[in-house]
Amino acid sequence: MDWGMRNRLSKIIRPETGRTVMLAVDHGYFLGPTTGLEEPGKTVAPLLPYADTLMLTRGVLRACVDPRMNVPVVLRVSGGTSILGNLADEGTTVSMKDSLRLNVAGVALSVFVGSQLEKQTLLALANIVNEAEEFGVPVLAVTAVGKDMVRDSRYLGLACRIAAELGAHVVKTYYCDDFESVVKNCPVPIVIAGGKKIPEREAIELSYNAVSRGAAGVDMGRNIFQSEHPVSMIRTVREVVHNNMKPDKAWDLFNALAREEGKKAHKKDKTAVA
Ligand code: 5RP
Repeated sequence: MDWGMRNRLSKIIRPETGRTVMLAVDHGYFLGPTTGLEEPGKTVAPLLPYADTLMLTRGVLRACVDPRMNVPVVLRVSGGTSILGNLADEGTTVSMKDSLRLNVAGVALSVFVGSQLEKQTLLALANIVNEAEEFGVPVLAVTAVGKDMVRDSRYLGLACRIAAELGAHVVKTYYCDDFESVVKNCPVPIVIAGGKKIPEREAIELSYNAVSRGAAGVDMGRNIFQSEHPVSMIRTVREVVHNNMKPDKAWDLFNALAREEGKKAHKKDKTAVA
């Protein structure tokens, strides 16, 4: 693996712990104005100090994120469909040249194993890997998005392994029972998506279960930015991911941080009114 590739990978997965907290805010590329991301710049700004990597689209990056920020970007480079159409019918949306111009640490695209369009999306992954290898850019393959998939270890194991075989450097999937076997059968690091918003305590447990069973971290969106206390949530998830904080302790930490976050927001509201 060349220097550039290793350097970029080390910006995505922290070498100190071998783990990462990726903040995913790319949902709008097929969901449109997702709850919590109506103004992505405002959502992201207070979370950035606690994110190892920011995952988003070219449009939101350029329009809403301060280019002076220091967080490495994993750019979503697939899309072209919406929640109203056939999600699997994605194409590549950003050239490698533009990704490099945006100074990315990596690029991400979805694969839809088991859909009628699996071949199209898997070959798109292979093509992006071919191009990305030329420039030392890691590729994150996102698996199992969509309603039709049974997210069990058999399916997720299949999707992750295929993505890795085609050259993905990191794979994103969902946590499931027997997650260890998904990890064992995938030769590259796995990060988990958080999925739909669930109570904070459950999202903390999900993160803990995933990393303690072999995930290299999380690429989490809604369970952070849709929380009433998003900064407290990302800070807590960081402790779980990088310091193996157990769920009970992490839950106490979240509550303590949330009280502080609540007080600060209250003070800010009062100042705005005065
Ligand atoms: C959608 C994505 C999202 O980034 C992913 O689902 C992570 O976000 P969440 O934690 O909200 O599920 O890749 O295709």
